[in-house]
Amino acid sequence: MLKTFSCLLALMTVCAIASAEPAATFDPTSKVFRLDGGDASYVFGVNSRGELQQLYWGGRLASSDHFPQAVPMPARASFDSSYTNTPQEYAGWGAGLFVEPALKVTFADGNRDLVLHYDSHTLTANGADVVLKDIKRNILVTLHYAIDPDSGILSRSATIENREAQPVTIEQAAAAAWALPPAHYTLNYLTGRWAGEWTLTQEKLDPGERVIESRRGSTGHQTNPWFAIQSGNSDENHGEVWFGALAWSGSWRITVEQDQLDEVRVTGGFNPFDFGYVLHPGQSFDTPVFYGGYAANGLGSASRLLHHFEIAHVLPHRIGTGDSAAPKPRPVIYNSWEATEFNVDEAGQMALAEKAAALGVDRFVMDDGWFGQRKDDHAGLGDWYVNQQKFPHGLKPLIDKVHALGMDFGLWVEPEMVNPDSDLYRKHPDWVLNFPGRPRSEQRNQLVLNLARPDVRAYVLSFLDKLVTENDIAFLKWDYNRNWSEPGWDQLAPAEQKKVYVEFTRSLYGILAELERKHPKLEIESCSGGGGRVDLGILKYTDEVWPSDNTDPFDRLTQQDGFTYAYTPQVMMAWVTDSPHGLNHRTTSVTYRMLSSMQGSLGIGANLAKWNDDEMATAKRLIAAYHQVQPTIVQGSLYRLISPRNGSEFSATQTVNHDKSQSVVFLFIHSTQEERLFPRLKLNGLDPAAEYALTSIEGKAQAGTPATASGAWWMNHGLDMDEEFRGDFLAAAFRLDRR
Ligand code: DGJ
Repeated sequence: MLKTFSCLLALMTVCAIASAEPAATFDPTSKVFRLDGGDASYVFGVNSRGELQQLYWGGRLASSDHFPQAVPMPARASFDSSYTNTPQEYAGWGAGLFVEPALKVTFADGNRDLVLHYDSHTLTANGADVVLKDIKRNILVTLHYAIDPDSGILSRSATIENREAQPVTIEQAAAAAWALPPAHYTLNYLTGRWAGEWTLTQEKLDPGERVIESRRGSTGHQTNPWFAIQSGNSDENHGEVWFGALAWSGSWRITVEQDQLDEVRVTGGFNPFDFGYVLHPGQSFDTPVFYGGYAANGLGSASRLLHHFEIAHVLPHRIGTGDSAAPKPRPVIYNSWEATEFNVDEAGQMALAEKAAALGVDRFVMDDGWFGQRKDDHAGLGDWYVNQQKFPHGLKPLIDKVHALGMDFGLWVEPEMVNPDSDLYRKHPDWVLNFPGRPRSEQRNQLVLNLARPDVRAYVLSFLDKLVTENDIAFLKWDYNRNWSEPGWDQLAPAEQKKVYVEFTRSLYGILAELERKHPKLEIESCSGGGGRVDLGILKYTDEVWPSDNTDPFDRLTQQDGFTYAYTPQVMMAWVTDSPHGLNHRTTSVTYRMLSSMQGSLGIGANLAKWNDDEMATAKRLIAAYHQVQPTIVQGSLYRLISPRNGSEFSATQTVNHDKSQSVVFLFIHSTQEERLFPRLKLNGLDPAAEYALTSIEGKAQAGTPATASGAWWMNHGLDMDEEFRGDFLAAAFRLDRR
């Protein structure tokens, strides 16, 4: 959208840093801030009382559109003050606020009233830093806003500063609060459990508060810090959607409130449960970032915006990895876990590596079991030396073999954990999260190291650094297999101990950042017993995630469907494992398994020693086909054409690359019923005027389907499948290439 910007003389200093089409403006007369990016505008202003009030979030407005100064919402009754009715950008708990506060504090003298008013601001390249201050006390909050010019996705966070002479305890701190006007809405969020993550949960918004959260010390499998709110008539392809994702891998909370005036407020940040952070005089405190976006064409358009934003602005841009630092399609990996579990050794891993290389795999990853006295999950975590019985000459012979086979090498670690049966625990029993004199609850026979402690952080960083320095390791699979219990930190005074909820995660990010500095090419996967630590905080430091320990290819269709509402297929690792599958005892063909996994970043996790020649040949052929179209699949625009949710008989996805020169389509049948044929599939996102050639990757189109047709034909007429495409657990895939 072409915009002109004329600077008032009084604004010249501000205009100087802005381009001809500034993303962020401030009108000193109306005291209105406006951020424009992509197809979205976000507007807020200083109201007549001095509070920062949200005015608009939605489709992009014309540059000629102006807002008058914000007027606080009136009190409707003596029970609901104007302060509580007004949608504030960042409300302190005080002055009779009954909705969720963004910030709640207790001052040293017991005063708990906090009322934040506008103080000053600075416009930045793509946003603004707006300073709020309590009406009486020297507590300052700087709200950081930035808008992405391409997607219109906003990044918001807050810095809280104590300029009082006494400490202040922060009891609740959000990154941001978002507001929507009264209307009919549907809330979407992601729920699950171990081996059952990524269920898209949808519910109508009604008065009251919906809380999605983790109290577990990490992101969690049960809910994920992402939401999307659809307007009443919106679906996958139509209607307005407001969405957001919190970049934090510790305990978090997002509340979605429909308030007493039916306005909707979404507030997200640190989970206030068991929370307390003492801010001493002169100290400041940063919240995580809460991203938020607006999409005009349904949930599909929201996820496409988010995917492109994640690749462009969240994922690590590793330096020294080629021409461009932008994230590259992931190597096709082999992982040993489901083949050998803990029984790894030099000969067995070398044999698997030979098989993997024969398939065309790019990276060989040895999973759990290679270190300390690790025979099962009872011992070894914490002792990160190579097990001499399993690898008598260290890791070098295996790594050399993997390299000779043309692959690079990756290794499993679980740095934040310790088994009580380990040298590390025997030496440092005080290093774990615990309350002295209380039991230490074990899960999977392990305890959580208190990463917030400087000595623990130093230990973890030094063993990882040594491991990566001494061995030619391209990739770490970073696992985390339990949640917190008894989260004490007895090195600190009682009043300070709850800051473990913040410092642990900051330490984790600090270690990852330091590893990146020392080993800029090292790539990392975030795994937590599957998808227990997937969020935009950890994705700033990690290249991919393990979405679930459930590798059943049919279950994965629904999991991948849910996953992609929030996260790009670029990071969605998907292994092909053995059949029948251990979880559901379901038998599927290698073709079905391959095509299910090829919708994300492909991996092989099967016991290849047991695969026959036909299975090996099929996998080899499909890996080669995948390599050819992988950038389109993982970095293109994703269209969920037919959802596998709710027991659907059919499902289909399609991706289109950036310049619309290529598209890839996947089709799946659960179980054909009543001889029903796969429905005609109308494609999406192509250039209607261009000609596209259809090539089968797997399966046949109906006889008479044109070899080449226009984008308009594929989108309006659609693709018909051969009528033999009927049965149980079948899959097909096609590519379209512009002529
Ligand atoms: C849980 C992971 O999700 C699995 O893939 C595997 O790495 C095991 N941990 C190893 O203990």
